[in-house]
This record gives sequence, C-alpha cells and structure tokens, in this order.
Amino acid sequence: MLNLDRLSLNNHISIHIPQGWQRLDPASLTGTVMVIGRSDTGKTTLARYLFHQLCRHHSKVGFLDCDVGQSTLGLPTTMTLALSATAEESNSPPRREAFSYFIGSTSPRGHMLPTVIGAHKLQVTAQEMGAKVIVVDTTGLVDRAAGGGALKHWKIELLQPSVLVSLARGPELEHILWPRRRDRRVRVHELRVSKHVKERDRETRIRYREARFRNYFGKAGTLKIPIRSTVVFGIEEMSRGQVLAFQDEGGFALALGVAQEYERSSQTLAIRTPLTSIEGVSSIRFGTLRLDPATGQEL
Ligand SMILES: Nc1ncnc2c1ncn2[C@@H]1O[C@H](COP(=O)(O)OP(=O)(O)O)[C@@H](O)[C@H]1O
Ligand SMILES: [Mg+2]
Repeated sequence: MLNLDRLSLNNHISIHIPQGWQRLDPASLTGTVMVIGRSDTGKTTLARYLFHQLCRHHSKVGFLDCDVGQSTLGLPTTMTLALSATAEESNSPPRREAFSYFIGSTSPRGHMLPTVIGAHKLQVTAQEMGAKVIVVDTTGLVDRAAGGGALKHWKIELLQPSVLVSLARGPELEHILWPRRRDRRVRVHELRVSKHVKERDRETRIRYREARFRNYFGKAGTLKIPIRSTVVFGIEEMSRGQVLAFQDEGGFALALGVAQEYERSSQTLAIRTPLTSIEGVSSIRFGTLRLDPATGQEL
C-alpha cells in the first residue's frame, strides 16, 4: 500500500459549504460521481465533502484520487483508490483498503492511456470491493488545446459517471459540458467556484510534490533487482533518477522506487525504495519522471 499516512480522508478542515453543494443529495447518489474543473477550483475539497456525506448513507464508499500532480491520497505520479471501512468489517482482519496505479509522470499529458486505463481499473476494483458509490477527484487538465477536453471526454465514456459535478469560474468547461447537458446517461451538476478557494502558484505545487517524495524516499533503503529475470516495462527509460513502480499481479503499485546504479557484471539494478523485499512483486514499470530521492527534486 502506498503511503496514505500523510493525508487521511478523515481529516476535517473547516470549509465553506455553498448552497449548491447541499443540493447534491447524498442519499440519492449512486454509481460514479466525477468532479471536474481547472486547478484551484475546489475539486478536492468538494470531493472530500461528498465522500463524508456519502459515508453517512452508504455502507461502502470509494474515493478515487486521479490527480497525479497534486495527489492527496497516494504519491504524485499515481492515482489512488481508498475505501471507507464498514462497521461489520471492523472486527474482521483488515482487508487491503487502498490501491494505487502508477502513471509515471506528474501530469497526464503524454500519459493519457495509463490515466484512463488506471482510473477504470481502480473503479472496477472499488465496485468489486462493494462500493456502490465512488467519488472521483480529477486533475485540473481541462484545456482543449492541451488535450484536457479529450481526456475528460474519454474518461467519462469509460467510467460512465451517473453525476458529473463541475466547478467553473467562466466558460472554461463549456467544451466538455455542452454535449453532456443533453446526454441522458449523465446528470450534470454545475457549480461556481467558491470565493474561499485559495490559489496555489506553480512554485507551491512543485514544493508540495518535492515534500511528498522527500518524505517517502527519506525512509527508503536500497533493493538490488536482477533485471534479466524480472518483468520490466519501459526499460528504454532506465537511467539514474528514473522513477518506477513495483507492481502486483493486478498491475497496481505496491511501492515506488528511484533507479540508482546499474551493475553490468551482475545485471542488477540498485533501486532506492522503502520496499524491503520483492515478495509479491510481479513487474516493474518505469515512468518518465526523474528525481533525486534525497531532496524530492525533479532532475
Ligand atoms: N469551499 C471551500 N471553503 C474553504 N476553503 C476552500 C473551499 N474550497 C477550496 N478551499 C481551499 O482552497 C484550496 C484549493 O482547493 P482544492 O480543493 O485543493 O482545489 P483543487 O482540487 O481544484 O485544486 C485549498 O487550500 C482548500 O482548502
Ligand atoms: Mg485537487
């Protein structure tokens, strides 16, 4: 399980709850509820509010964090699913309650396929684990020229949300919302951005990612992997600093690592990772991000 310790879904911060939010009746919501909007529109805040409301009405609720840049559940470069614990489960041995899917980059740009495929895999997992309702938090990539329109369109087609909640200041989501307003498969719930939203500049976003990586790799040791006898995807990306995921049989990330030295004679790759054994690891997949694990800074 990737580190969920930093931001628990049960963290309560004081937030302003506009009337439009209250019109989203949690008792009547089922299926997938997708929240979309640009960066700094209050998506994560609204998605968490919805999750808490839904937990009071449904025995099992999924929270799917698809933001690979300002990730709140898992690490940047991953999308993470967390499930609410149900009362009847609390006495039985704990089941795995979080699943992460590695994208390999802190932006879905250039990584659209793993982004939609990973979101779908996590959604199916949530359904298999008994979640009747799943809240999906998304990245702020909505701009048509940058591929955001296509990303949201195909994600909606694949995940088939019952409700699309949009947060906008102006017409920036029109290209996504316009056809969906008359699309009978989805109910569109349009909200204005709250004046309480605090905007973060690029530096703040970068510092946030660095701190998350530094905290994660700070506790890491080194694992030596025999490359020849391991399933490795994207080996052409391999270079010092390359971020990678150790994946389980289902293709979910068990842990992240950063490539260190490759020893030619033994054909082993040293990887900085908090993972202590490769038990349960079915494959390794390289991303495109490179970083210094000591500082968390991108290379
Ligand atoms: N309704 C609200 N009331 C108070 N603070 C809010 C509200 N919505 C967002 N914020 C604050 O604004 C900032 C950005 O919100 P966030 O939900 O992370 O936006 P996004 O996920 O769209 O980037 C956060 O610091 C959050 O606490
Ligand atoms: Mg967010």
